[in-house]
Amino acid sequence: MGLKLGLVGLGGFGSAFAPLFKSHPLVDRIAFCDRNPDALAKFVNDPFYRDKFNVRDTYTSLDEILKTDLDALVIITQPWLHAPQCIAAMKAGKHVYSAVPVISLPDFDEVLDWCDRIISACETTGMRYMLGETTIYRPKTMFCRRMADQGKFGTFVYAEGEYFHDVDSHCNLRNVRAQRLANPAGQEWPPQAQKYLDRGIKGSPMSYPTHSVSGPVHVMRAHAVKACGVGYRNQNGDPFFAPDAFSNVVGFFKMSNGATCRICEFRESPGHLGDDGETFRIAGTAGTFSNGSWWHNGRTKGELVPPPVLDKPTDQEMRDPLPDAVREAFKRVQHRDKAENDLATLDFTPTGHGGSHPYLVHEFVSAVAGNRQPVINAWESARYMAMGATAHRSALKDGEWLKVPDWGDAPA
Ligand SMILES: NC(=O)c1ccc[n+]([C@@H]2O[C@H](COP(=O)([O-])OP(=O)(O)OC[C@H]3O[C@@H](n4cnc5c(N)ncnc54)[C@H](O)[C@@H]3O)[C@@H](O)[C@H]2O)c1
Repeated sequence: MGLKLGLVGLGGFGSAFAPLFKSHPLVDRIAFCDRNPDALAKFVNDPFYRDKFNVRDTYTSLDEILKTDLDALVIITQPWLHAPQCIAAMKAGKHVYSAVPVISLPDFDEVLDWCDRIISACETTGMRYMLGETTIYRPKTMFCRRMADQGKFGTFVYAEGEYFHDVDSHCNLRNVRAQRLANPAGQEWPPQAQKYLDRGIKGSPMSYPTHSVSGPVHVMRAHAVKACGVGYRNQNGDPFFAPDAFSNVVGFFKMSNGATCRICEFRESPGHLGDDGETFRIAGTAGTFSNGSWWHNGRTKGELVPPPVLDKPTDQEMRDPLPDAVREAFKRVQHRDKAENDLATLDFTPTGHGGSHPYLVHEFVSAVAGNRQPVINAWESARYMAMGATAHRSALKDGEWLKVPDWGDAPA
């Protein structure tokens, strides 16, 4: 018996995941849920879903879909909604996949409290929680994890992670905000947001820290123990930044493995430094990964070694393989318009945020089906959020070094 899966939130991002979740070979049945009937309609009427979808499995509220016999829910709703919805799902006996971040709120005390509550919900319900962090399945991250697992970095020395997403970039944040506020769930947010401002609590780019911090944390298998943050306050009266204390924040971290880490979360600076707006670089005593280059010299005990070898692996070389059956199923998604006979001659190229989408889907489905912790479980996700929260808190205190909360490693 395969999994019975419900997709909650079929806006711009949720829509991209629906065909992949539907097509995974371990999924038998799919259900759709969105408060917005327009968002639902395009799936309900699409013949592509018919083999695993019955129109009775259409829901217009989270409460309704929680009462079903579905095994798991994929929650891709607005970012301030994720955590309570995920907890409700786990309490209703459903495994849960959440879009990033764990939750995005201006009040970081609340953010950390939600992390705590999600971990408690995992413990008390026995349900699995996975955060859909795209960075973890970018080619460079898979490659660095393999190098780390083989000890090829040596001892980790330094890492830096960056998310340079200027408000007026190609993915324009003014438009994204307007679109997320336009639907019925979005219209409920402004009065809640105003309450934070009334309490003098202003937001931060560090409330969405997962793209920048997750690479270093995941590759080094280390978490932050101390943090210092410095913020840049918008200076031209741009109304987009009015609810925020800072438009750009830099965080410095002492990691649990002794390495140093520097993180940038920037929303007011066009383009990016380095090769990519969403990236990380990691230096060890025997190997360094930066901007697609991998230097390694094999040194282990301080012995004399030849100068480092420089490799520039391709994306294909950096990616882990997907199981054949999963690849084939996703190939059908990629070439929906092609006849069955033509598929044998076609290839499958992972797409979506560096090709991460098919891997995220496969990781969640196979973790639930295999009754194991997902790689990006609740404990790992809390580590990402704690780094952002502590950097922001420190920036509010003019860069005071602060202890970073931690919930430990995930149980098996
Ligand atoms: N790289 C990444 O990981 C990445 C990229 C883009 C978006 N995201 C995340 O994906 C999430 C969704 O983004 P989006 O652009 O699709 O937003 P969106 O506003 O377009 O879609 C959200 C959908 O959720 C629905 N919804 C809200 N509450 C609901 C409820 N109680 N029951 C049923 N449906 C409900 C809304 O009606 C809407 O259709 C965001 O949290 C964002 O942070 C992550």
